[in-house]
Amino acid sequence: MSIITIVGARPQFVKAGTVSRALRSAGLKEIIVHTGQHFDYNMSQVFFDDMEIPEPDYNLEINSLSHGAMTGRMLEAIERILLKEKPSLVLVYGDTNSTLAGALAAQKLAIPVAHVEAGLRSFNMAMPEETNRILTDRISTHLFCPTQVAVNNLKAEGFTNFGCNIHNVGDVMLDAALYYSERSAQKSTIVRDIGLEPNPVLATMHRQENTDNPHNLKGIIDALNSIHSERQVVVPLHPRTKKIIEGSGIKMNFTIIPPVGYFDMIELLKHCALVITDSGGLQKEAFFFSKGCVTLRDETEWTELVDGGYNVLAGSNSETIVDCYKMMLSTTPDFSAPLYGSGDASVRIVDRLKQG
Ligand code: UD1
Repeated sequence: MSIITIVGARPQFVKAGTVSRALRSAGLKEIIVHTGQHFDYNMSQVFFDDMEIPEPDYNLEINSLSHGAMTGRMLEAIERILLKEKPSLVLVYGDTNSTLAGALAAQKLAIPVAHVEAGLRSFNMAMPEETNRILTDRISTHLFCPTQVAVNNLKAEGFTNFGCNIHNVGDVMLDAALYYSERSAQKSTIVRDIGLEPNPVLATMHRQENTDNPHNLKGIIDALNSIHSERQVVVPLHPRTKKIIEGSGIKMNFTIIPPVGYFDMIELLKHCALVITDSGGLQKEAFFFSKGCVTLRDETEWTELVDGGYNVLAGSNSETIVDCYKMMLSTTPDFSAPLYGSGDASVRIVDRLKQG
C-alpha cells in the first residue's frame, strides 16, 4: 500500500515525524506533500532536520494567502498529485488549512482519509481550526483520536452512524516528546545561547483570536511584561504575531527570540517553571514535561488538562493572566496520569493502517 502524507504547518511536522518513522519501520511507502503553508526555516525545515523527517517529495509553496485562497489552491494542487500517484490512503494531521485541503482532495477522488488528532473540539466556531477539524473528521475513514474526550465528542455528534472507524490510540505528540527528549540536551544549546535565567516562564501566542484583536493582544503583552519584572519570560515569537506587534507600537519588555526548533523547545520546556500559551500542542507538551500551563484562551480542546488541575484558562485579560500565573506556580499537581496514552500512538496507527 502507498500512503500520501499531507503536512504544511509547524505542529504537523512534529506529529508526522513519529508516524513517518513508524511507517518506514513497517516497510510502508510514504510520499510526503508539504503544502508550503509554513515556509520560514525555523517554522519548517528545522523540524525536518531535528526530527529526521524525509525531505518532502512535493513542496507546493502555497502560503501567505487568505484562508479561502490558501485552502482552494492547496485543494487543486493536491488533487493533481493524487491523480498522478494514486495512493491507497491519504494521511492528514490536526486542524490547519493544509489538513482540510488534503482530506477534501482525497475524498473527492474516493481515496480513504486517515485523520490523526481526530475528534478534538473547542466548540468555538469562530476559530478557523474548528471548521477544519469538523469537516476533516466528517470525511475521514479512519479517525485516530488522542484522548477519550475526543472519542466522546465524535460519538455525541453521531459519528458512530457514519461508517467510519474510530480508534483511541493516544497522542502522537507524546511519542515525539518521549523520543526526542532523550536527544535534546546533546542537540540544543539554547539555554546557553539566550542566557536563560533559572525557572523562567515559557510563553507563546499566535492564535488569530489573540493576535488580530488589539485589546486581547495588549492584555496578554501587559501581563507578560508584568510577570517578566519578577521572573524571566521567554517568548519564541511566531511570525504572524511579530508582524502585528511591530505594526501596533505595543512595547514588549520580555525576552523575545525567533521561533525555535523542536530540540530547543524541549530544552526550554525542561528548564521552565511554567508555560503560558495559546497553542494547542504546547498545552500538552507542558504536561508531558510536568509543567503547569496558563492558557491564553477561553476554551481548550484539551479539557482533561483543565479538569486535572494541570492547566487553567485565563483568556486575554491582563490581571486574570497574572492571577492564574501565581495560582499555577503555587500548585503541584501529580503529572503521572496517563491522559495521552503510553507513547505508542504512532505504532498503533501504523498497525491499524496495515490492516487496510
Ligand atoms: C496555522 C494554523 C494553526 C496552527 C498554526 C501553528 C490554520 C488555519 N492555522 O496558523 O491551526 O496552530 O499554524 O503555527 O491553518 N508566516 C511566516 N512564516 C512562516 C509561516 C507563516 O511569515 O513560516 C506568516 C504568513 O505569511 C502569515 C502568518 O504568518 O502572514 C500566518 O500564517 P498562517 O499559515 O496563515 O497561519 P498560522 O497563524 O501560522
